[in-house]
Amino acid sequence: MGYRVAVVGATGAVGREILKTLAERQFPVDDIVALASARSAGREVSFGEKKVLKIQNLETFDFTGWDIALFSPGGAVSAKYAPKAAAAKCLVVDNTSHFRMEPGVPLVVPEVNAAALKKARKGIIANPNCSTAQMMVALKPLHDLFRIKRVVVSTYQAVSGAGKSGMDELFSQTKGSFVNDPPTVAQFTKQIAFNLIPHIDRFMEDGSTKEEWKMAVETRKILDPDIKVFATCVRVPVFIGHSEAISIECEKPVDLEKARAALRKAPGVILRDEREDGGYVTPIECVGEDDTYVSRLRIDPTVENGLAFWCVSDNLRKGAALNAVQIAESLDEQHLIGKDSPLWQPVPRSEEPA
Ligand code: A2P
Repeated sequence: MGYRVAVVGATGAVGREILKTLAERQFPVDDIVALASARSAGREVSFGEKKVLKIQNLETFDFTGWDIALFSPGGAVSAKYAPKAAAAKCLVVDNTSHFRMEPGVPLVVPEVNAAALKKARKGIIANPNCSTAQMMVALKPLHDLFRIKRVVVSTYQAVSGAGKSGMDELFSQTKGSFVNDPPTVAQFTKQIAFNLIPHIDRFMEDGSTKEEWKMAVETRKILDPDIKVFATCVRVPVFIGHSEAISIECEKPVDLEKARAALRKAPGVILRDEREDGGYVTPIECVGEDDTYVSRLRIDPTVENGLAFWCVSDNLRKGAALNAVQIAESLDEQHLIGKDSPLWQPVPRSEEPA
């Protein structure tokens, strides 16, 4: 049996990738609808190789009778429409940051905490931030082995993390530089072509950015509430593929060979770590790939029980669309989709929020 599936934000960078991923992975779809703003109504997007979908207007769409909706239209739009879909018993997997830290909304990376899906109390499941998602799949096997206490991470994030308009800005600034056009800065705060910007999302009171804060709080919600995370998030002139330099400090003594063996076995992780020219993975090599790549694994001798590595993943796949579709697959495996799902039953008072 298949489901009636809605994709919200279907004209965007992540929405298109969600349609592609649903088709590629043959998610059981009986009926599918692509939704975006009134501006795009009537435009066409493809679903798989054979099917073309006409965009419908989210504002006037009725979610009654639809089983699951994958949302990536931006935080403010999800804030308004995800609860409407959930009220119609259409389960929402939301890719924006809006609901991530809300009690009763599980924040899920299926390789790490698929069991949390059963605790969805509001008909909404949140997909983590792109930088958090790839870090979680790499940290999980190491946490199981050595109990991570603290993480220090620097990110090198692709412009597609800022949506299609971010990609357009890098493209036009790069092209413009060859014909001496002055760069137009709109999506980012400074020129991104041939540059780096140590600022993603808004500034917080302590001088961190919201992106850095998200990596810390999301890690604690997904992996372990006791892990401390210090992040520095940087936008780089790469179209697709986020990279991260990650250092961890663990409770137990770290063994490099055990770490290698655990990473080799971990779901969603590929260890490519040859200590020679080119024996590591760069962002351009992971475009269109589902896995998260770990390279440059080495002991950090400057702290007790320290380990450091390089981690690369396609931010539109594991960081967004793939993780959302994997959540949908896991909901299906756990029989949590559909009008008879236990998620729509009244919650016993004694039960803890997710
Ligand atoms: P639209 O193309 O009609 O503006 P990206 O993150 O790549 O910029 O994509 C954002 C997605 O969210 C697009 O599909 C966009 O549709 C959609 N979107 C933005 N605002 C709204 C809105 N008010 N209602 C529905 N969809 C929206």
